[in-house]
Amino acid sequence: MASVAIDGPAGAGKSTIAKLVAKELNAIYVDTGAMYRAIAIYFLRNRLDPEIPEQVAEACEQIEVTITYEDGNQQVWLNGENVTPFLRTEEVGDMASRSSAKQAVRDKLLQLQRDLASSHKVVMDGRDIGTHVLPEAEVKIYLTASSAERARRRYEELTARGEICDLAEIEQAIIERDQQDMSRTIAPLKQAEDACYLDSSDLTIPEVVAWILEKCEEAAI
Ligand code: DC
Repeated sequence: MASVAIDGPAGAGKSTIAKLVAKELNAIYVDTGAMYRAIAIYFLRNRLDPEIPEQVAEACEQIEVTITYEDGNQQVWLNGENVTPFLRTEEVGDMASRSSAKQAVRDKLLQLQRDLASSHKVVMDGRDIGTHVLPEAEVKIYLTASSAERARRRYEELTARGEICDLAEIEQAIIERDQQDMSRTIAPLKQAEDACYLDSSDLTIPEVVAWILEKCEEAAI
């Protein structure tokens, strides 16, 4: 089945873009960050430390992550509980960034991600999709934006929800998350050699979607 891999740093707009591209292509959107976030919830709820190998091994033995789709929206299940509503907090994102650096955690999700891509046409986003999960993907995109622009987008999203936040603090957290995701030894975030690079700092959502769809057309997807 044809695959589109979209990798990039936190806050680059991958999920918004990937969802729209998937709709246009009649493909399913696979949010791999949400899978890592589900595992992070297990670590947080059970007060497990990703720096302690025995605790990581124990967690990976106990965890079962599955994916379903409701009205085209991905739902993530952790040991039979739909944890989708709890995934998008800073605490969960931070734990996901730390726990996803562990090989056992990545091994846990690799097969699930590859199985989805072998049974469906997918637009999959994450950090290592083009480099590691789907090296044969027909289209690979490395989507990024400046840390200032990513912080601005996040700030707008949070203030629209009525949350009080500080732009400089958000940008600092984004820079730290980049550092964590790019410098880890296992599956670090980096552009695949054959990926198309797109900096969306000065582009609108429809412009980014159109640019990616053009690449898909060229690849006959
Ligand atoms: O995209 P996101 O913010 O939901 O991802 C949360 C964390 O999960 C991110 O900091 C790094 C990790 N992640 C990963 O290591 N590999 C992926 N394919 C997707 C996410």
